[in-house]
Amino acid sequence: MKAHDVNVIREAMEAQLGRSQHPDEFPVLPQVPAGRYFDPEFAALEREHIWLKTWLMVGHESEFPDTGSYRVTNKLDRSVIITRGKDGQLRAFNNSCRHRASALLMEPQGKTQRFTCPYHAWGYGLEGDLIVVPDAHDFPCLNKSEMGLVPVRCEVWRGLVYLNFDKDAEPLADFMAPMAAQATGFPLENLVVKDRYSIEADCNWKVAFDNFLEIYHVRFCHPQSLAPYLNSQSFVVSLFENGHSRFATRKQQTDTLFAYTGLTVSDQADQTFNEYTIALPTFPNSFYALDAAGFNYLTFWPIAPGKVLMEGTLFGWPSDSEEDKAYWKTMRTAVQGILAEDMYLFGGIQKSMQNGVIPNLVMGYQERALYWYQEEIDRRIGAERIPEALRVKPVLAGQQQG
Ligand code: FES
Ligand SMILES: [Fe+2]
Repeated sequence: MKAHDVNVIREAMEAQLGRSQHPDEFPVLPQVPAGRYFDPEFAALEREHIWLKTWLMVGHESEFPDTGSYRVTNKLDRSVIITRGKDGQLRAFNNSCRHRASALLMEPQGKTQRFTCPYHAWGYGLEGDLIVVPDAHDFPCLNKSEMGLVPVRCEVWRGLVYLNFDKDAEPLADFMAPMAAQATGFPLENLVVKDRYSIEADCNWKVAFDNFLEIYHVRFCHPQSLAPYLNSQSFVVSLFENGHSRFATRKQQTDTLFAYTGLTVSDQADQTFNEYTIALPTFPNSFYALDAAGFNYLTFWPIAPGKVLMEGTLFGWPSDSEEDKAYWKTMRTAVQGILAEDMYLFGGIQKSMQNGVIPNLVMGYQERALYWYQEEIDRRIGAERIPEALRVKPVLAGQQQG
């Protein structure tokens, strides 16, 4: 992170630690209509204008070490193959055969020379081109060059792999530009995936995402598991263009968030990342907090208006040691334990909104990152498409840092 950004954090944190009043110059946040969390029409608008048009983080380059390494992701009702071509490029394709639409791959990951459909054995190259059609003479009008796999946009930012279902989307680098400086000095490219898990919960995806965008609940919900490691009073929030934000929190106890033994810790990360926990909530559905020991990268995916899939990817540094394996096993139990403390509340929140008892949510100054991404949702959908009763008032424009 640049010295300028570190100074901005230091100053903001000093002010934050001494703060006992709502900052005069900051807008008071209007209430947020609960319907945004269950209305099927609103969920359909989100799908059309957010989920099918925004860059979405799905993995890391290190998961595709060789030509033909592939992974299949099943999110948002779409099955997508991500693979590395002979030219070294990562590409993504819909996992659907152009003949009669069978899924090509059933395995979640592997390595291959060619994708062969299990139904009638049409074969596709790693670049998506249709190469083999058994009994090709029975398809006299078939133009193979037009029948390649249907591509999905796939780009890489700092080693993280993103998909976008909109072929006309802006380049990933532009979408992530406001975050670039925030992760400078942390070698994201060198990470490896240690473990991955998914959990479903009976709530809207935003109920789960909201929970990770504030520290207000931590001392009450996680008094033993998380609160001892973080100085909640020091929580500094910065808002960035495109609905992204950054949190800086002072660590208590150790240089890494959790105590550890025998773990591979990066000595390449700037000192800033030892002093503070720098979290980078990324629009629309990612939360991660950089730590020199590695971290849990969470993504939140809608299954239905009242159902979410949460996926956690544990990122660490290359190591084959037994201590490292043991650490990540313990870490997985720890992060899932913390998540369970949160999830315990999600169902109740969803019910109280859905049954009409709580028609609006109240958000305070510490919860401004929640409101910020809700405003971005409306900007991307286009406020005029959203029923008036479900809109959020745009009050934070101009509050973002450059
Ligand atoms: S559906 Fe794939 S070869 Fe027939
Ligand atoms: Fe929590």
